[in-house]
Amino acid sequence: MFSVTNDGNKNFKNLVNGKWVSSESNNFIDINSPIDNSLVGRVPAMTKDEVDFIIKGAKEAQKEWGKITLNERAEILYKAADLFVEYSEEIAEIMIREIAKDRKSSISEVVRTADFIRFTADTAKNMSGESIPGDTFPGYKRNKISVVNRVPLGVVLAISPFNYPVNLAASKIAPAIIAGNSVVLKPATQGSLCGIYLARIFEAAGVPKGVINTITGRGSEIGDYITTHKGIDFINFTGSSAVGERISKITTMVPLLMELGGKDAAIILKDADLELAASNIIAGAYSYSGQRCTAVKRVLVEEEIADALVEKLKEKVAKLKVVNPLEEQGDVVPLINTKSADFVCELMEDAKEKGAELLFGGKREGNVIYPTLFDKVTEDMRLAWEEPFGPVLPIMRVKDRDEAIRISNESEYGLQGAVFTENIDNAFYVADKLEVGTVQINNKTERGPDHFPFLGVKSSGIGTQGIRYSIEAMTRLKGTVINLR
Ligand code: NAP
Ligand code: G3P
Repeated sequence: MFSVTNDGNKNFKNLVNGKWVSSESNNFIDINSPIDNSLVGRVPAMTKDEVDFIIKGAKEAQKEWGKITLNERAEILYKAADLFVEYSEEIAEIMIREIAKDRKSSISEVVRTADFIRFTADTAKNMSGESIPGDTFPGYKRNKISVVNRVPLGVVLAISPFNYPVNLAASKIAPAIIAGNSVVLKPATQGSLCGIYLARIFEAAGVPKGVINTITGRGSEIGDYITTHKGIDFINFTGSSAVGERISKITTMVPLLMELGGKDAAIILKDADLELAASNIIAGAYSYSGQRCTAVKRVLVEEEIADALVEKLKEKVAKLKVVNPLEEQGDVVPLINTKSADFVCELMEDAKEKGAELLFGGKREGNVIYPTLFDKVTEDMRLAWEEPFGPVLPIMRVKDRDEAIRISNESEYGLQGAVFTENIDNAFYVADKLEVGTVQINNKTERGPDHFPFLGVKSSGIGTQGIRYSIEAMTRLKGTVINLR
């Protein structure tokens, strides 16, 4: 499968208007593994002229793609889903090397993607328009009927982050193309080999030329040019709040769907099942080394039960396995790059200097940050507010549920929140007041299942993802009014 995109020299190509091409610039970006810095591949840094060519081709291709039946588009998606499952081990192998995700999570990301794609096709087949009689509005007669349908937007620009290089690319592409749009995918540079492979799968499934295209290149160099390109009709971005805010500032009259950073709090009330809370906190905070937007990024616990919770967390964090994901299965893996590991260390240093109690970890080897747990983190510490995107969890002790709600809501982010309690009234009291997209009751914060709405408020995003919601976002309503004589 891979020979099509790779000339044998680890130089990967982009899918452009149905052809696999390199860049005329002949500039390549090395993709080195976060595990051992070995070269995994090289991707072309595409030029502005090439971006123009790609978007023009996508625009042309969309005209035909938008005309074919939804059934035919769905059949292609079902085929793509089957191919993702068939090649899951091969894709996981690249993912492990490229972004250092553990094998089990890499395979499950690919299989989850196949499920996502199938569900997208099923959902689109069951969506329909409506007809609205005119005479329900005062002054109108029965002769007027609006037939309302959904039509594609045109060319969708999908920009994906490094941490789910397959799933967070496909969860933009599948809803876009089932709705009749064409797609230009700009994958995260560290993650672009996975992005290219993914495009190859869609191509092999029968997506016609020009309907899915890839553009590799550094976001800092080519990002502004692509996002402000006149040929782009919709931008679906997942990544940091800083880049998301930049895109929203420099674009004009282009609808945006953005999922950005988070600082999700797990709020533990005094009547919680502490065993359940502790297991969820550990899984939520440390899987893939905390490099998940929905990771549990702080614990807000009522003072009376804080010691008991801390004991359970200490016991469980000590059992986490730090591994080289190429060699064995484990929980904590090297961070994506040295800059990220440096940043996490900065936050840890700041917390230590300001008096937080280091309960476990605090050690670094290269890009590996050992699972770290801090107690007695206070509001003057950066760790209380900033997103480490690493395996470091702060515990903040609070006097009651209202203080937990206040601290949670003072965050610039508003992705998700979790509340652990055995009392339904308490659960709803907290859930009602949290300024976030989703509240989990007695569960860790997490995106799935993927047909649920997934959204962030404040600096955590614009618009709503989730299968049906994404299809709705990437289409617009079109009314045709019948005027009977
Ligand atoms: P990032 O640095 O913001 O990069 C995300 C994507 O944006 C990459 O493809 C990147 O390309 C591209 N990019 C960079 N500068 C750009 C520009 N000026 N214009 C257009 N695109 C540009 O984020 P990341 O490090 O990959 O991911 C981590 C962040 O994403 C965290 O903050 C995390 O919370 C957030 N995240 C949020 C969600 C969610 O659903 N809410 C999910 C996953 C991740 P390059 O790689 O070439 O720079
Ligand atoms: O950070 C990626 C985001 O989509 C989270 O997904 O399944 O890890 O909650 P999940």
